[in-house]
Amino acid sequence: MRQFAALIHMSDIIRLDKMLGEMGYGTRKEIKKLIKDGVVKVDGNIVRDPGNHINTKVQSVTVNGEKLDYRKYIYIMMNKPAGVISATESPYEKTVVGLLPEKYLNFKPSPVGRLDKDTLGLLLLTNDGELIHRLISPKKHVPKVYVARVRGTVTEEDIDSFKKGVILDDGYRTLPAGLKIIEQGDISTVEVEIFEGKYHQVKRMFEAVGKKVVLLERISIGPLKLDTNLKAGEFRELTSHELELLQEDICLDIFSRISRN
Ligand code: URA
Repeated sequence: MRQFAALIHMSDIIRLDKMLGEMGYGTRKEIKKLIKDGVVKVDGNIVRDPGNHINTKVQSVTVNGEKLDYRKYIYIMMNKPAGVISATESPYEKTVVGLLPEKYLNFKPSPVGRLDKDTLGLLLLTNDGELIHRLISPKKHVPKVYVARVRGTVTEEDIDSFKKGVILDDGYRTLPAGLKIIEQGDISTVEVEIFEGKYHQVKRMFEAVGKKVVLLERISIGPLKLDTNLKAGEFRELTSHELELLQEDICLDIFSRISRN
């Protein structure tokens, strides 16, 4: 007799009470009561055992008739507005997490790295700790691209200085960075590509060459580009394609990349 073996990934299996907990249905006790009350169904059948194991890929769970859209991780792209800090909470300031609706808060998303309060643009928020680590680890050199408006005429000399790395106010020499002039003038518009994330890095790099950043917007992190349809303060979940791009190895050889520019 031929045997048919279904492929089961253990990572898709979760206890019913844990699943409901992760989806924000309350404390263990509250969830136990929900299940006991008979309002939780698995594949259309009432279940009474909180320890029931669910295959999240193939089984359907409803609570009071509402289907659970279960996933462990969320990935949100935000076009960060000015005036909001890159934090999960603050007693004094508006935070990027505070801009998200309730349905995302159960997942406990955090911003991936920080943008200054006055910096705009691409911010990723997720609860996937491994991805956060890969994107912000200093060893990974993930490229980040910013558009900056800079007081002062940005010159070819500045491009060379950025390519070599500039010395910041604390004596640190930055890694090589890319600098492209988009518009040269009293206020210049430039694109900057950096491979690390020191405090106020872009602003301090321009200070090192005697110029001042007056507006800063991040437009990409590795392969992820800011969706230009998102207005300041708006956000959306990443598409599966964007997520795949991020899961690929985005470690780069900076030096060959910079010398190509
Ligand atoms: N560099 C800065 O100076 N500020 C930011 O917010 C990001 C990079």
